[in-house]
Amino acid sequence: MISADHNKLLATIANSVGTPCYVYSADAILAAWHAYDTAFGDLPHLVCYAVKANSNLSLLKLLADAGAGFDIVSGGELFRVLRAGGDPKKIVFSGVGKTEAEIELALQSGIGAFNCESEGELAVINAVAGRLGLTADFSLRVNPDVNADTHPYISTGLRDHKFGIDISDAPAVYARSRAFRNLRAAGVSCHIGSQILDYSPILEAADKVLTLIEHLKADGHAIRHIDLGGGLGIAYKEGDASPSIATFIADLRERVERAGLTITIEPGRSIVGNAGELLTRVLYLKQSPSKHFVVIDAAMNDLIRPALYKAHHNIRPLKATGGSILADVVGPVCETGDFLARDRELPDVQPGDLLAVESAGAYGFVQASNYNSRPRPVEVLVEGNTWRVVRKRETWEDLIRGEELI
Ligand code: LLP
Repeated sequence: MISADHNKLLATIANSVGTPCYVYSADAILAAWHAYDTAFGDLPHLVCYAVKANSNLSLLKLLADAGAGFDIVSGGELFRVLRAGGDPKKIVFSGVGKTEAEIELALQSGIGAFNCESEGELAVINAVAGRLGLTADFSLRVNPDVNADTHPYISTGLRDHKFGIDISDAPAVYARSRAFRNLRAAGVSCHIGSQILDYSPILEAADKVLTLIEHLKADGHAIRHIDLGGGLGIAYKEGDASPSIATFIADLRERVERAGLTITIEPGRSIVGNAGELLTRVLYLKQSPSKHFVVIDAAMNDLIRPALYKAHHNIRPLKATGGSILADVVGPVCETGDFLARDRELPDVQPGDLLAVESAGAYGFVQASNYNSRPRPVEVLVEGNTWRVVRKRETWEDLIRGEELI
């Protein structure tokens, strides 16, 4: 339940820094991170926050200070984590298309491990490590052919997805990797998708990976860790049965404890998703013969999830109003796909009213663009009763930075 005080604070922030504006709660982020960390108990573990969900430097710093590791997928994310004071040894580097330059930067920075997605990538890491006189720990990301039952764009664990190496090919790939002098097979990783509400497919994947690890150990590989990716879903609307972090981890722990491995997980959304909201102001009310429209000052460039995945985000006015309307909530971008909600029952709102778009902490700002030459929103972090801007609103000058006038 959202308190009146919370809404008042959000209104104060919006009136002070303008809208659209992302607001994050430090307390909520840390609570979710600690829920993961404590649920593992004394099982050796590393909770690597998936930076792609929200890469604001202050959020990374908050998590780094709490002892988090980080799951990165680019040189840019590595740069951010190091700038925020993250411990390089606690970084895992995932992704299908790491460039040689990114691999070199990662090796020079002393990251913990690479999650490798192809034999070609193993060869490049081996070559770069050789050149630098280093040995690199790697896990193969295996594709367990498990259906994560989520939106097709964010499901990753099926045989025809671009991710990982088919689990049945993995023993042969590990065997061939022995030829790479500067690599050490240290683990096995997998990640089957995102926004997973029923986590039984993750357990099924874990079982398959544990069986593979037994075979690999029997083949003489010194496998020490298992990385089970991220993916735990959050409640976006009433009725979403979002899994408890504690129960999920207890189920994983039970499986991994017996195997004597260190476990890594890479949660993103479940740490920051419900810790962030996008504040926006109503510009106009408009009516077509068949529909009501609430035109707001946030758009698909600020939060693309509804347009891209038909994602649902609750929208609530910051001030209680009477009555209700059924409306599309749309932004100023010149596309029919520019909506944050469709056919949504909303309390009556008026031009000038402030709205909070909920559950926007993950994959919100990070997927924002400058489409229609709209500056990206300001970001604010709330800690207890205080708040501060952690990223300024972009200016029009920011929009043309780097461009040349011929
Ligand atoms: N590890 C790997 C290798 C991943 O690819 C991902 C997410 C994660 C961890 C973190 O997953 P999470 O715990 O956040 O579910 N833009 C989409 C989500 C894409 C997720 C991509 N990979 C959205 O807005 O729903």
